[in-house]
Amino acid sequence: MLNRLETDRMVVRRLTTEDAEFMLDLLNQPSFHRFIGDRGVKTLDQARTYIEERAIAGYEKNSFGPFAVELKKDGSVIGIVSLLDRDELEDVDIGFAFLPAHWRQGFALEASSALMEYAFSDLGLDRIIAVTQTDNIASIKTLEKMGLAYEGVVRLAAEGPDLQLYAVNR
Ligand SMILES: CC(C)(COP(=O)(O)OP(=O)(O)OC[C@H]1O[C@@H](n2cnc3c(N)ncnc32)[C@H](O)[C@@H]1OP(=O)(O)O)[C@@H](O)C(=O)NCCC(=O)NCCS
Repeated sequence: MLNRLETDRMVVRRLTTEDAEFMLDLLNQPSFHRFIGDRGVKTLDQARTYIEERAIAGYEKNSFGPFAVELKKDGSVIGIVSLLDRDELEDVDIGFAFLPAHWRQGFALEASSALMEYAFSDLGLDRIIAVTQTDNIASIKTLEKMGLAYEGVVRLAAEGPDLQLYAVNR
């Protein structure tokens, strides 16, 4: 189970309820609402509950979940990278979201590549996928730089939007 991964500039670690303030901020970014969704988390208490139910409970059950990305230089939490085992998809899904102040500095690519490598070498996965909206250029470019390639269109719900499926096989 993932406790901690290090890259040159970051630490990827489990979320704790002490990250509630950061999570409240991230989940309410317009970019998060637009490209991922509104999780309805509007208070610090709700953010703590979200972390308990969506992150910590998952760490207990399996090796998946959202993880915090912390900058080594000052310890600040700047984003999340996640491995999710969604019911709607056959393969494990990799995801990422960062606070806008930290975009375009290669952080998503660096942290997600380390998580992907962990998923292949430590968890023994042989395929990783990602789903993204067709107009999410930042996400698509990041996935392509990580080595994932476009495979087609999927929907997570019958009424949901068409999403682009990206994948990489070990
Ligand atoms: C997607 C996201 C995590 C990318 O984070 P980031 O740290 O800015 O990404 P990186 O700096 O590692 O960029 C990786 C590559 O993607 C490309 N890229 C990133 N943002 C881009 C943008 N806005 N426009 C065009 N290309 C972009 C660049 O090619 C970059 O490589 P380069 O630095 O060599 O040019 C960030 O935009 C985000 O948090 N968006 C909101 C949440 C979201 O959409 N998550 C994905 C849901 S599927």
